[in-house]
Amino acid sequence: MICLGIESTAHTFGIGICDDKGRILANERSVYKPKKGWGIVPMEAGKHHEETRDGVLRKALEKSGKRMEDVDLITYSRGPGLPPCLYKGMEFAKNLAGENKIPLIGVNHCVAHIEIGRLTSGFKDPVVVYVSGGNTQIISFSESRYRVFGECMDIGIGNALDKFGRSVGLDFPQAPKIEQLAKKGKWIDLPYVVKGMDLSFSGIVTACLNKHKSGEPLENLCYSIQEVFFSMLTEVTERALAHLGKDQVLLTGGVAANLRLQEMLNKMAKERKGKFAVVPRELSGDNGAMIAWNGLIAHKSGQKSSRDVDSRWRTDDVDVPWVK
Ligand code: ATP
Ligand code: FE2
Repeated sequence: MICLGIESTAHTFGIGICDDKGRILANERSVYKPKKGWGIVPMEAGKHHEETRDGVLRKALEKSGKRMEDVDLITYSRGPGLPPCLYKGMEFAKNLAGENKIPLIGVNHCVAHIEIGRLTSGFKDPVVVYVSGGNTQIISFSESRYRVFGECMDIGIGNALDKFGRSVGLDFPQAPKIEQLAKKGKWIDLPYVVKGMDLSFSGIVTACLNKHKSGEPLENLCYSIQEVFFSMLTEVTERALAHLGKDQVLLTGGVAANLRLQEMLNKMAKERKGKFAVVPRELSGDNGAMIAWNGLIAHKSGQKSSRDVDSRWRTDDVDVPWVK
């Protein structure tokens, strides 16, 4: 069975093609880049998706060596995400499915991040640290659903890093530049905000910006914001492992690319005699392949067709009958 998956929740318009052995045959994308000094403008991101989607589809088919006639299933990101972006993806998926008479199903973007991670790591029952621009969640399977054991209370960790970087004059995406600058920095005192199992980043961004105004070197701020954000995440992840009695940590989302974060979580997992894995870069950021793979397993376990979007669809509201 060949499945074509469409991702369009935020800045990435992606199309992935996979088969039922979990082989990724193509994973193409086009990424909307906001103007200098701006964050994502949802309507503009939607326009970007509309303008680039035909080209991304062409490239994905070419790369996979397949034609539309070979595709057995079309899947798309039904949510959560920015409504103008979600609609552009759903509309495109619906037309493709209709024109070619192929079944269509919608999948949850966050669950798709988990499923592609389980595929690449081979972990059966991990605690997942999903850290991207808009999302920060510590998730694990419990009582028939993926449940969120900890999450951000204000903005996502990637957006928090990007926002800090933008305010001090770095270009989008700012977080990788912060990672580089951090290598030359040293620790300065910052607030540490964990409430129960939840995290709050925006007050720490404000504290950093205040210190920047009073002349603190940027390298020190970059180093310290990373140390404090990633320590908070590691603390909550460790508590989730202990509470659930699990021993596998799976890191995914765009922020998973950060080597310092990988190092901290790896060390914590090893100290507990557990295992750590990170999802490869091309599959950890937003991508179409994860939507294709999740859709394929959802379809095989009997998920019904959908033709709508849900911009606030929560991870723990998703039925996941394919997880044993
Ligand atoms: P979602 O829609 O799930 O919130 P997203 O649209 O933010 O995802 P991703 O590609 O998953 O897309 O993540 C992008 C985020 O990852 C951006 O905030 C970016 O700055 C951040 N990022 C990329 N590289 C690094 C890095 N090396 N260190 C930290 N953050 C990074
Ligand atoms: Fe994502």
